[in-house]
Amino acid sequence: MEQLIKQIEDYKQEINNYVAANADDAETFRIKYLGTKGLVKSVMGEMKNVPADQKKEFGQLLNDFKLFTEAKYEELKETTDNGKANTENTIDISLPADTLPLGSRHPISLVRNRIVSIFQRLGFAVAEGPEIEDDWHNFTALNLPENHPARDMQDTFYINQNPDWLLRTHTSSVQVREMEKGKLPIRIICPGRVYRNETISARAHCFFHQVEGLYIAENVSFADLKQTLYFFVQEMFGESVKVRFRPSYFPFTEPSAEMDISCLICGGKGCNVCKHTGWVEILGCGMVHPNLLENCGIDSNKYTGFAFGMGVERITMLKYQIKDLRLFSENDLRFLKQFTSAV
Ligand code: DAH
Repeated sequence: MEQLIKQIEDYKQEINNYVAANADDAETFRIKYLGTKGLVKSVMGEMKNVPADQKKEFGQLLNDFKLFTEAKYEELKETTDNGKANTENTIDISLPADTLPLGSRHPISLVRNRIVSIFQRLGFAVAEGPEIEDDWHNFTALNLPENHPARDMQDTFYINQNPDWLLRTHTSSVQVREMEKGKLPIRIICPGRVYRNETISARAHCFFHQVEGLYIAENVSFADLKQTLYFFVQEMFGESVKVRFRPSYFPFTEPSAEMDISCLICGGKGCNVCKHTGWVEILGCGMVHPNLLENCGIDSNKYTGFAFGMGVERITMLKYQIKDLRLFSENDLRFLKQFTSAV
């Protein structure tokens, strides 16, 4: 047994002095000492010759030897790997750094922010509300009672847990919430995401974004509405753009109108985009219906107001001549990258 102990000491010495210049040398070490026919295996084989009363002691010794050899191998591997890294990928700290790809805002966010900032300059404050609404705020308070035919145009998604809950179809629900607070005058814009149960196509999606506006005070007139929206259009699309108002119907406004702008593509001459009319519709608006004011506890003899609502996707499509609404939610970088420095 003395001889075996001596032998192990010699091996340890030999292993300790082993130098590996590269990964191949480290591999040679592994095969020689730790391989299936390697030295450690054969030394372990000596166990069978050790007398029973010394097995424990020798077991320990042999195990230590094995661990010692494995540790040496790890060390060789690490140093030769690092060596490789150092010679092959030498870092030149004088080189300019890799440029980090810079993210950009989504075109919908850019245009929404632009709309918001135009109205903020006119003194409108931003108001927000929940996307999961109740029937009252989304429909009934807005003069759209149950079974009103105009509800058909705004079919949405309902929440099983409570038949009264739905995904809001417009941000007009935020107008109701602000009116209910009863703090007058009110001058707000409500940007946000809205939902409709629509088949997805180039022109419709089951969700989109709106900015609605509401101004309630004493003596607010249709002239105020027109001038406000005219200012907005000029800031958004340029001073040469013309506007026109067409009579329309919304349950929450009376009278109601839709506003068109002269076609940006053909300048009003007529093209595919404006369906050869020279005009494109961009928003709905009107004077707040007295029923709405009363529903929210506001004296309709004392106060009047105007409201409007526009789709952010629609404005964005017009501004950048985008023809398919689905591009906004596909997250295709080739599309999104084009807006890095837009607006
Ligand atoms: N809420 C309407 C819609 O989503 C848009 C709208 C029209 C909002 C007229 C208004 C308004 O506030 O006065 O179709």
